[in-house]
Amino acid sequence: MKILIEEADLQERVDELAKKISKEYEGKTLYLLCILKGSVMFLADLAKKLDTDLHTEFHFVEASSYGESTESSGSVEVESSLSHDEFEGKDVLIVEDIIDTGRTLSKIKKDINSHNPASLKICTLLDKPERRVITDVEPEYIGFTIPDKFVIGYGLDYDQQYRNLPFIGILDPEDI
Ligand code: PRP
Repeated sequence: MKILIEEADLQERVDELAKKISKEYEGKTLYLLCILKGSVMFLADLAKKLDTDLHTEFHFVEASSYGESTESSGSVEVESSLSHDEFEGKDVLIVEDIIDTGRTLSKIKKDINSHNPASLKICTLLDKPERRVITDVEPEYIGFTIPDKFVIGYGLDYDQQYRNLPFIGILDPEDI
């Protein structure tokens, strides 16, 4: 495997994003919506770096489309125990590990928007614009724009493996 983003560079960028978000949501309650499973590391680090005066709530939905493949299946399954009233009047920030085709976020965004949040923004650690199929999911906060390679680590998996790595790596096609 080749390292694409070292742990120190990841942490530095997450810190920068957290500072920006803290400033922009000052005085509000930030409703952080983490898309499981891949975003769990990013949410944990980002939340710890937010201004300690900022009020936050954590919420989770699980979405999956990749199965055991390196290609998105094209059909996104979303599981949530959230009641839709929970979004009404809230400042929602979706925390995502990666945007690839855009299908996952398009589905989630549409669902939340139909329940009248005060605001809805997207913060993604990684953005792979070359692979975008759906164009209505442009993120307000982006950690790194990356090339069209299959990446793992820091929450991202291949067939449920490698999520624990503290850096982002590119998986050697021979290992797949
Ligand atoms: C990955 C990733 C995003 C989504 C992005 O999730 O975490 O949620 O794919 O791809 P898209 O833009 O093409 O929809 P995955 O389905 O692998 O589930 P996981 O987070 O549980 O690994």
